Amino acid sequence: MFNSSRINEFSNIPTPFYYYDMEILQNTLEIVKRESSKYGYHVHYAVKANANPKIMTKIQSYGFGADCVSGNEIKRSLESGYPQNKIVYAGVGKSDQEIQTALDSNIFCFNCESIPEMELINEMAAKANKIAKIAIRINPNVNANTHHYITTGVEENKFGISRWEFDSVLEGLASYKNIELIGLHFHIGSQITDLSVFKGLCLRINEIKQWFSDRQIFVEHINVGGGFGVDYKHPDENPIPDFVAFFGIFDEFLDLEANQELHFELGRSMVAQCGSLISKVLYVKNGVKTKFAILDAGMTELLRPALYQAYHKIENLSSNGETENYDVVGPICESSDCFGKLVSLPATKRNDLIAIRTTGAYGEAMASRYNLRDIAPSIFSNELN
Ligand code: LLP
Repeated sequence: MFNSSRINEFSNIPTPFYYYDMEILQNTLEIVKRESSKYGYHVHYAVKANANPKIMTKIQSYGFGADCVSGNEIKRSLESGYPQNKIVYAGVGKSDQEIQTALDSNIFCFNCESIPEMELINEMAAKANKIAKIAIRINPNVNANTHHYITTGVEENKFGISRWEFDSVLEGLASYKNIELIGLHFHIGSQITDLSVFKGLCLRINEIKQWFSDRQIFVEHINVGGGFGVDYKHPDENPIPDFVAFFGIFDEFLDLEANQELHFELGRSMVAQCGSLISKVLYVKNGVKTKFAILDAGMTELLRPALYQAYHKIENLSSNGETENYDVVGPICESSDCFGKLVSLPATKRNDLIAIRTTGAYGEAMASRYNLRDIAPSIFSNELN
């Protein structure tokens, strides 16, 4: 059960708001640090999961790098203290302006997703009189067995460069004088809970690395992206994903050459469980088959259920009466604005506080102003007293 001692503190705060339990974040970061350091692995935090400056600063304080997907994420990372040489930049559609930002910032590496993008980076780097360091993002055609909207590493996806293009990439690289190939990058999807998927990724990377070394191409680093999933059903029992097993898979199955670095881009697994969306019940209304609990938070604060039919645990913090089933919905003018159907909750009434759990990743980050709503504020456990 969500830390019920918080209720008194929450009851004076206008809802909805994003609540961050900084102790959970800290415990998670400590374990990521400990387990990745065991093998000398480099972890870049995937900023897209949560770009809240306080969260970003906390993560930076552990020495992690940043994985960015836009010029603004690069700027936010620099503002939050991430060193330039620990910033990687991926994205299928990097604009000229964003590439310029990355060049000006002397980032560690561009993860390039197409040949035309490499050409442009080469051209812009030449104008700036720089050598841009790049990794090629390879589409390894490994199925992540996750929701199809967050699968990125199979051939029908728009991401990365497929195997049949490798020859053209090498031809191009031979003539691009202002880019230097330093890595191979992979990312196959998100919310992957079946670790055998990562084993499959390692085996595929070993094959791909062989293809390159057969052609006398050796890179300084391999970047395996992110994608490690969290337990949305049991946030209290499993607040920290099993990073021991996760990093262990790469140690066991990925063949690194001497001095070859391994990089990760972890988003969700670092921040999902520290966040909850706190909301109030506006009305309880009788529907034909079920009661509706209508909240003051909606898909504008948490899009995941509407977009991916994602499950988030919902708790009524104010009541412990007999349970009943409710469709828990938001106020937005869309039928998909629903956090859960037939959710069993203790008897629920107007003004009850509701916690929607595991929203630290892709919650606040995906907020919108649809219906001209205000962006909800964020509240941090270490600032409450
Ligand atoms: N690296 C790259 C290149 C990525 O595209 C992503 C996520 C990550 C790293 C971080 O992945 P993570 O460790 O968080 O799984 N909005 C969706 C998730 C989209 C993920 C996009 N890419 C959701 O709410 O489930």
